[in-house]
Amino acid sequence: MEFLPIFLDLKGQKVVIVGGGRIASRKAALVHSAGAKIVVVSPRCGEAMHTWLAENQRCSWVAENFAAPHLEGASLVIAATDDAGVNHAVYDAAKARGLPVNVADQPHLCSFILPAIVDRSPAVIAISTGGRSPILARYLKAKLEQFLPFGLGTITGLLGRWREGVKQAIVDERSRKRFWERLIDGPIGEAALSGHTEKADAMIATALQSHAESSGKVYIIGAGPGNPELLTIRAQRLLQRADVVLYDRLVGREILSLCRREARLIFVGKRASLHYKTQAQTEALMVKLAKQGLRVARLKGGDPFVFGRGGEECQTLRAEGIDYEVVPGISAANGASAYAGIPLTHRDHTHGVSYVSGDAIASPVLCKALVASAQTLVVYMGLSKAGELAANLQSAGMSADMPVAVVSAGTTVAQQTVVSTLDHLERDIHAAQLPSPALLIVGSVVSLREQLNWLEERGGIEAEQVFSTPDAMIGREAA
Ligand SMILES: C[S@@+](CC[C@H](N)C(=O)[O-])C[C@H]1O[C@@H](n2cnc3c(N)ncnc32)[C@H](O)[C@@H]1O
Repeated sequence: MEFLPIFLDLKGQKVVIVGGGRIASRKAALVHSAGAKIVVVSPRCGEAMHTWLAENQRCSWVAENFAAPHLEGASLVIAATDDAGVNHAVYDAAKARGLPVNVADQPHLCSFILPAIVDRSPAVIAISTGGRSPILARYLKAKLEQFLPFGLGTITGLLGRWREGVKQAIVDERSRKRFWERLIDGPIGEAALSGHTEKADAMIATALQSHAESSGKVYIIGAGPGNPELLTIRAQRLLQRADVVLYDRLVGREILSLCRREARLIFVGKRASLHYKTQAQTEALMVKLAKQGLRVARLKGGDPFVFGRGGEECQTLRAEGIDYEVVPGISAANGASAYAGIPLTHRDHTHGVSYVSGDAIASPVLCKALVASAQTLVVYMGLSKAGELAANLQSAGMSADMPVAVVSAGTTVAQQTVVSTLDHLERDIHAAQLPSPALLIVGSVVSLREQLNWLEERGGIEAEQVFSTPDAMIGREAA
């Protein structure tokens, strides 16, 4: 960094502006807006400077050629004349007195530069290109002007007013930081941004009161079927805020890379080479972390409420009095069927779909009911018992030539799909050596894949749908 950005308090300070032209008048106005006393030194002044001097207080004009004694008592000096010799003399005199000096458009004669400014006072954003390109600085300023709400000043004022009160009410620094983050991002911030200052003040008082009793919060988040592009915006936003992330086996590194850099990542799934936690241990951990006041993201493959134990976890949190939110994810059935080109319902085939687990099909009663319903069946966790499932469905009256699709690693670059029939299912799965996770889609809708297989026709998942995994992820796992 060539220049250190600092913000100077110039209230009541003498600032000398050498020059009486348009540029000098602009500099005078800028410095004056920070509360400085302006002394303009120039034998002549142009119209812009005359007008400015006439309209403002805390400024005076010394109608003389510049001389070093003019800098007596000054805190800052700016030269903006069209005479290179005068500019140089100002620079030398200021340097000799140890004063910060800026010569307009002469970066080599500047000990400080004036940045482009986005003014949402009391919030101010300064932009510098190190004196290289004022045009680029102005371009960046215009971009920021568009992006930053005008109410930013109001919210800054609110934060300033409550800073001390919040510090006293929330002693723990991390909790205080979270309180502020939530406040800025939430309804209080909204109220302030839209200019409802009194309402925002009342809301912050209430929030502070309830914070005194509050613990952390658990977000039970569906990570979708594997392709990171299928994560919801809500999920992504919450991962950016979580203090701790408890994640399952089916959550890929690409999705974990979206977590906040400082977040602690804890693997709680089942994986041969790593420790794993039982469901009871995972729930106990969630409770413990939330009671420490942390924001916990419980990240699960697919949707938390579809074979995801999300319901059980909510029951535990409720029993412990812990605040929680459930963020839906795209379930494997939806993701895999879409990427395999198999609609789960179709007016010419079936009007319903049932999601069942592989275990459920072991029950002859349930099997009979499922077959009688003539719905598409999506079987989760059924790959290793596919032969048994096929036999049970046939015993319950399903035709041996009913089409079945097996989709492995659906929605990811590794997706494989095998289409078979009930009577050949076990043989075809064995021949294809499909890895898990995989699900089975049983029903005549599977025959539509011949027409609707958009993904393979296009040659697979598009490049923009494949995330790269930043190296930064490596080493962030903690058991
Ligand atoms: C414990 S369940 C979790 C289901 C998850 N909550 C959901 O909504 O998709 C795990 C099973 O989901 C299925 N599954 C998950 N992700 C999958 C994927 N990408 N492709 C195919 N099946 C998947 C497999 O049947 C796997 O055994």
